[in-house]
Amino acid sequence: MSYLEQLFSLEGKIAVVTGASRGLGNAMAGALLRAGASVILVSANQTRLDAATAAFQAQGLSATSHCCDLADKTRIAALIEAVRRDPGRVDILVNAAGMTEGHALADYPDEVWERTLQVNVGAVFHLARGFAPLMAAQHGGSIINLTSINAEQGFPGNPAYVAAKGALKQLSKALAVDLATSGVRVNTIGPGYFHTDMTSGSWNDPDRRAQRSSRTLLGRWGEPDDLAGLVIYLASSASGYVTGQDFYIDGGWLAKGL
Ligand SMILES: NC(=O)c1ccc[n+]([C@@H]2O[C@H](COP(=O)([O-])OP(=O)(O)OC[C@H]3O[C@@H](n4cnc5c(N)ncnc54)[C@H](OP(=O)(O)O)[C@@H]3O)[C@@H](O)[C@H]2O)c1
Repeated sequence: MSYLEQLFSLEGKIAVVTGASRGLGNAMAGALLRAGASVILVSANQTRLDAATAAFQAQGLSATSHCCDLADKTRIAALIEAVRRDPGRVDILVNAAGMTEGHALADYPDEVWERTLQVNVGAVFHLARGFAPLMAAQHGGSIINLTSINAEQGFPGNPAYVAAKGALKQLSKALAVDLATSGVRVNTIGPGYFHTDMTSGSWNDPDRRAQRSSRTLLGRWGEPDDLAGLVIYLASSASGYVTGQDFYIDGGWLAKGL
């Protein structure tokens, strides 16, 4: 193995990736698989999950899946128990599942507020708490949580999403503190605008699409594979002294002034 391969290799590692049926979670699952990890893909939609898993398997990659609605705490407990039984270890947990539903503040439905907070941040708490003992038992692990530029900035008509991403940023710091002595590192990746199902409304509107590009320094939207390098880095021993940090992959969105 070359020096670079050794530094970033995930050979023999087991990863759980939520939101892996499509979009950014799917791209990151692919990156971890290609770096040598075995990946358990998680989403709430069996059909999409089966298709994503089969596509990876067809490339000779070590993908399996578990269907779980992360809005449901009992389903999360069942996922943790299933992984505890088989394969019995977790080295990497990527929390990429997320939902967003915009409404005017005056009409914002209570159930959307509650579901958004549970799927985007509550589930991360439950998964981290459930998987941490497995990681501690093997003296280490890496938890990677997908936040957003919304963790730093207010966006209109979406209070639950903005609140959830801000809370996830701080939950990640709390987890980094509580799990450090177990050798578990916790960091966040905050994407800018990437073309996925989640952002199709902005992508399909020519004005909003162009506005999102021009708001960055690099003058373009992100591609899901733009996350590959960072997720492999954070999952691997290359980042062994990195915890409690926030990394933004946003084409310079947050750095840009005028
Ligand atoms: N795209 C962007 O520009 C962008 C920007 C900033 C942050 N992010 C964040 O990056 C992450 C991935 O976003 P994306 O753009 O890839 O979104 P996406 O294309 O809408 O995909 C969302 C993923 O989350 C899963 N999911 C949603 N609700 C779930 C639930 N209740 N239980 C289990 N899985 C659930 C979906 O699975 P099923 O539908 O198959 O169940 C799907 O795999 C999210 O956390 C998002 O907030 C995205």
